[in-house]
Amino acid sequence: MCGLLHRNVSTRGLVVLASGNGSNFEAIVKASNEGLLNAEIAQLIVDRDCHAIERARKLSVPCRKLNESWRSDLETLLDEISPSLVVLAGFLRILPKRIVKKWRWKILNIHPSLLPAFPGMHAIRKAYEHGVKVTGITIHFVDEGVDTGPIILQKAIEVDPAWSLSELEERIHKLEHYWYSRTIEVILNGGWHIEGRRVFIEKDTRQLV
Ligand code: GRF
Repeated sequence: MCGLLHRNVSTRGLVVLASGNGSNFEAIVKASNEGLLNAEIAQLIVDRDCHAIERARKLSVPCRKLNESWRSDLETLLDEISPSLVVLAGFLRILPKRIVKKWRWKILNIHPSLLPAFPGMHAIRKAYEHGVKVTGITIHFVDEGVDTGPIILQKAIEVDPAWSLSELEERIHKLEHYWYSRTIEVILNGGWHIEGRRVFIEKDTRQLV
């Protein structure tokens, strides 16, 4: 069951958007509970019935399911909650340009490949089937394109050709769960700026990641 309430947002309040399993959402909540991430997860927003809802219930994070007119519903919700950051964690929809514009540099996404390689769906499988020797994760700001926004952080792993697809998936998810909350912390701390497509993270802040 996904209720309607959300917490009043603190100055470091996050909204997480998910459509599926929700393992990144859970990792972010746990990092916050463990003090690794100085932020409050004010609301999980989902666009469909999915396992993330169950995780939110167990973690006592308010959850809201978008209705059929999800675009305006989402815009209204974000206006109401006014989070410091909107964190996409497996949200399977392209955000309306209006929302991207309104929340410029306040929406993050995580992608399970080294962008610009393998954008879109099934990135891990595509990289695996392509036989890449190196793959990884990308955390980036969201712009109007699909997985095209300025890159904040990438972490790579070498692929052992003997790995099965699920072994690769497991390793990718481990990287995601470790790095997403740390990157969110860096962005919330504010020691960064963007020039063109380049994201600069100031030295002291960079030590966090
Ligand atoms: C992750 O691999 C993320 O990179 C991609 O969608 C997947 C979501 O997984 N955007 P989960 O729902 O967080 O388990």
